[in-house]
Amino acid sequence: MNWSEGYFTDVNYTHGYYRQLNPALLRLAVLAAGFSPPQHTEYNYLELGFGQGVSVTFHAAATGATYWGTDFNPTHVANARELTAACEACTHLSEESFCEFAARADLPEFDYIVLHGIWSWISDDNRNTIVDLIRRKLKTGGIVYASYNVYPGWAPYIPIRQLMSLFKDKVGDMTGAERSISGAVQFTKDVFTAAADYYRDVPAMTRHLETLNTRDTNYIAHEYLNADWKISTFAEVSVQLSGAKLTYVGPTRLLEHIAPFRFTPDGQKILSQIGDPVLKETTKDFLTNQIFRCDVYVKGARRIPHGEFLRLWSEQLFVLTTHKNDLPKEIDLPLGKIHLHEKVPRDVINALSESDYAPKTIARLKEHPQLAPARIEEIIETMNLLVGAGYASTAQVPTPEISARCKKLNRHVRDRALLVREIEYLASPITGGAINVPHICLLFLNAIDGGHSTTQDLTLYVWEFLQTIGERMRKNGKPLESREDNLASIAPLAERFLTSTVPMLKALQAI
Ligand SMILES: C[S@@+](CC[C@H](N)C(=O)[O-])C[C@H]1O[C@@H](n2cnc3c(N)ncnc32)[C@H](O)[C@@H]1O
Repeated sequence: MNWSEGYFTDVNYTHGYYRQLNPALLRLAVLAAGFSPPQHTEYNYLELGFGQGVSVTFHAAATGATYWGTDFNPTHVANARELTAACEACTHLSEESFCEFAARADLPEFDYIVLHGIWSWISDDNRNTIVDLIRRKLKTGGIVYASYNVYPGWAPYIPIRQLMSLFKDKVGDMTGAERSISGAVQFTKDVFTAAADYYRDVPAMTRHLETLNTRDTNYIAHEYLNADWKISTFAEVSVQLSGAKLTYVGPTRLLEHIAPFRFTPDGQKILSQIGDPVLKETTKDFLTNQIFRCDVYVKGARRIPHGEFLRLWSEQLFVLTTHKNDLPKEIDLPLGKIHLHEKVPRDVINALSESDYAPKTIARLKEHPQLAPARIEEIIETMNLLVGAGYASTAQVPTPEISARCKKLNRHVRDRALLVREIEYLASPITGGAINVPHICLLFLNAIDGGHSTTQDLTLYVWEFLQTIGERMRKNGKPLESREDNLASIAPLAERFLTSTVPMLKALQAI
């Protein structure tokens, strides 16, 4: 077998950033689950299979730690190294397989080992190698993050993957990877659409096939066309990781802590009667038809006393990452909506937006006149909700070095945006990670650099840019042809950018 070990390498991976890999959010996930998070400012962080290296680079730029990573795809490594070089971040990114990396004699002990989108798509041998690496190289008290596909959510769709993968092997035109992927998707859709009985008996299939239309080729290739592909149960993974002395502590998706909006009263009753943690988590997966888990494990997990829990939450800095005008009225959860205009969420949002969105601790929020009557637990629950839904983040006081690295990385990203639509994030020294900034907003920023400042100027700048690259704005997936239609489509985006995106990017020190 060649270096790729059957891993799909004909198409490179997407340029995604995953905030659940932010070390500060991992520490918060440990705390939110009721365990003691590690307290440190200097640490070693390892990302296994970093893809294009977006997450590892943004974290290395925006925090003060040392970042390690390996990915055996040389194109990924070259791209990642270009990014880290642009901001002079402290990284050791290698092109070794997991097996080669694990055998190195020069590895330090790590405080974090993270693997996102890896576990389900590698061989048993590689999973064993990773568990052994964690066992030998994770510090006591260290955190592991692993995401993976699970039963029962994936169960109905397994035949899709089987058919696509068989089509690729038997018929796919491998001289053109992209064509072979779209061929496999089309063939699979044709078969399942024609299989009336299957469609009738498994209604979720229709929805799943539809979502394939919205996913890009790179994602489909990596999700469905690898030689290795395994759906796990929580029980299996937790037993394997216990071989590295790890204990499951909780999810990175903080919304999963909001039980009344996740489990029916009957479901909550069943859960309350289960003592065994493995059976409990597995039951949660069945109650919610879980398809993908984002789990946090700790080596030497310690339950935190309630007083300490409250103290650590109180001292934690938070910041809104969405302008208050852009926040939705409610957050949709599986069993209902939580309204953000209700008293405590509304007052927390207002308090967080004061002083130009400067970060605030929960203790400071509690002192706010509007929030004085609120219980600290209610403020914690609200922050859990806002961070979980992606509208807020943990915050830090950046050092001058962090600010300088973020500035260099952001300059690089904005220059690249003039050449290619690829990385749609800017680094924030305040969140210690990346902020999603759509490509058109990166272009607006470049327009501002060029001295433009009004909605009309920004709109014209982007329209002229689109013309130079032969692109058009799109409506319902179709390009808009006339100048007027393009300008009318760009103008509201420019206006919103000036009124809410710019103040937020300033507050997050991303510009
Ligand atoms: C699905 S991608 C996920 C990338 C990244 N973690 C993310 O979520 O954006 C999996 C990555 O793992 C790498 N990979 C897979 N098997 C590997 C192995 N045995 N050794 C090193 N890297 C591997 C692939 O090259 C690919 O970049």
